[in-house]
Order: sequence, then C-alpha cells, then structure tokens
Amino acid sequence: MSCFCIKAMLLFCPLCSNALTVGQGELGLDFVCETCSFVHQIDQKITNRVYYKLKELDDVLGGKEAWENVDSTEAECPKCSHKRAYFMQIQTRSADEPMTTFYKCCNASCNNQWRE
Ligand SMILES: *[C@@H]1O[C@H](CO)[C@@H](O)[C@H](O)[C@H]1NC(C)=O
Ligand SMILES: [Zn+2]
Repeated sequence: MSCFCIKAMLLFCPLCSNALTVGQGELGLDFVCETCSFVHQIDQKITNRVYYKLKELDDVLGGKEAWENVDSTEAECPKCSHKRAYFMQIQTRSADEPMTTFYKCCNASCNNQWRE
C-alpha cells in the first residue's frame, strides 16, 4: 500500500475531527488520532469497531469533543432521571469482551456519564 493510497482513504477522527495518521499497532497498522488517542485498527474486514487503551478511555470521554455528533437514545440517567442520553459503543483493546456502551446524559445541567 503506497502512502498515496493511505491518504486517499484517509479517515478523520470521529471524536475530534482531526485527520488520522497511520501508525504501527500491536497487531498491524492502525489509524491513530494523535490528538485524542482514538485508534482504528486496519483490518482485513472493514468494521466499525473502535478500540481504546483503557487508561486513555476516561480521558477521551471526559472531553467535550468526544460527544459531539454522537447519537442519542432513550436511556434514563441514574443521576437526574432525564430520559435521553448520548451513547457510544466501544470495544476495549485489552480483552475479548463485548462492546461496552457509554452514556452521557443529554441534560446539559447534569452531564452525568455512565457505562453499561
Ligand atoms: C437536569 O439536571 C438538573 C440537575 O441535576 C435537574 O435538576 C433537572 O431536573 C434535570 N432536568 C431534566 C429535564 O431532567
Ligand atoms: Zn442526568
């Protein structure tokens, strides 16, 4: 794969909109966002899976940008009982666990985050 090919299929980070760069990951090449640590593994199959290093996850989700352009769903906030929350499904890199769903309350004066 030439550099041009990679650039032609250049992706932008879904979390902070900066251009992703190609880096060497544990299992092969990864698309990496140098701004917010988003990693997208370049796989044989195109998947929508997002992998994170766990220790970086809380930092990323603590940022406002992480939740821009994220879909909301019906979910009750455990803190303020608001009925809608933004949600993201994230596969953590450390284990073969199912996707973890992260929520953030849509109530701007609450902004509570939780996971399932
Ligand atoms: C939003 O959050 C505030 C602070 O927790 C709470 O008082 C208020 O009732 C919430 N509003 C809605 C619509 O859930
Ligand atoms: Zn809330």
